[in-house]
Amino acid sequence: MNISDSERVSAVLESAKYKKTSNASQADLIVVVMCSIRQSAVDRIRGLAQKFEEIKKKKPALKTVLTGCVLKKDRKFFVEDFDYVVDIRDIKKIPAILKKKNSFKNDKNYLDITPKYSSKFSASVPIMTGCNNFCAYCVVPYARGREISRPAQDIVQEIKRLTNPTSSRLRGAREIWLLGQNVNSYKDKKTTFPKLLKMINDVPGNFWIRFTSSHPKDFNDKVIDAMAGCKKVTPYLNLPIQSGDDKILKSMNRRYTVAEYKNKIKKLRKKIPSICLSTDIIVGFPGETEKQFENTVKLFHDIEYDMAYINKYSPRAGTAAGKLKDDISIIEKKRREKVLNDILRQTALENNKKYIGKINTILIDGKDKGAWIGKNKHYKTVRLKLDQNLLGKFIKVKITKALPWSLVGKIIN
Ligand code: 5AD
Ligand code: SF4
Repeated sequence: MNISDSERVSAVLESAKYKKTSNASQADLIVVVMCSIRQSAVDRIRGLAQKFEEIKKKKPALKTVLTGCVLKKDRKFFVEDFDYVVDIRDIKKIPAILKKKNSFKNDKNYLDITPKYSSKFSASVPIMTGCNNFCAYCVVPYARGREISRPAQDIVQEIKRLTNPTSSRLRGAREIWLLGQNVNSYKDKKTTFPKLLKMINDVPGNFWIRFTSSHPKDFNDKVIDAMAGCKKVTPYLNLPIQSGDDKILKSMNRRYTVAEYKNKIKKLRKKIPSICLSTDIIVGFPGETEKQFENTVKLFHDIEYDMAYINKYSPRAGTAAGKLKDDISIIEKKRREKVLNDILRQTALENNKKYIGKINTILIDGKDKGAWIGKNKHYKTVRLKLDQNLLGKFIKVKITKALPWSLVGKIIN
């Protein structure tokens, strides 16, 4: 979402005649799109602000703007560190703010800005913003406000433009990421998320549809059916469970049980047997006992995830959990993180071995340590040797080797 927001900031600045530089000390203007999800992210921004102060000593005309997810309580520091702190929904106003004009139109609809896409073949398309769920640990509903869904027609139009191979600017995107804090609660009049998936699937062109993130309480049979029925929707799902213990889930205000979650996965696997699964976890939530953590361990063995984003709990002031004692030591949080990562490494490797000998279509998306890499439909990274630059192209490869976090493949004619 931050990348996507940055692409919109770029578009706004470009239309105000700014040009991009990769060198901060050359810049006349620096806009930072921040994240507040963990304290470490907030601290990083304070560090950045100090660097900008150094640049300003040599270049006093430099202006700095902070936007993205900024918490009210942090604003008081940041208004001192930055020249302007701008609500993400107000980024259209940045050029006017810089000119100190205060006759802004009150237009909070920032998602209708046509972004300056940073990739030619993979595009992020926000379908909604904000969140109504108020998970006990999370700042997003405070930083982003309540859920607002984009009009379905706008989304479909944007995707038509993006995927059209004759479109001069975009050259036919091959991968569309639908973004939202909780895509499953998307609603525009009668259009729900499964209907939106079908509408996008009907857009002509050769492209993959991916989406993130889903809330398990809203992930239902209709979404499963749409995923199974839409050819362009890839067999990959991130379904954040956060904890494998019902009591912890309750104190997190997640509003589902482990059994309900597992039942949804069972249905999904029945309809889409090859589905790849990832999840988000928080270890060391206040009061998480060893026994409760063991339930997450058990869940990891049961589900056999392909990937997991394991987060150490970070207390956030203003949230419900922020009032609870952060009573799990950092050493213990790190230990729990490692335990889960060790299981994940095994399950991911076992899952990856199933690809050996198979022919996969992959989308080449970059280079890593000298080797070309791409993603298959299942969102697995495939490493391979290529004699030519096929960035952004679909190619067929034979998988020759499996590692925990990637596959190795060979291009076939
Ligand atoms: N501490 C640690 N992790 C968090 N997340 C959200 N809030 C916190 C927090 N206070 C994690 C959740 C979420 C992901 C985006 O970030 O796992 O799914
Ligand atoms: Fe945060 Fe996601 Fe919960 Fe919303 S659903 S409060 S974004 S963790």
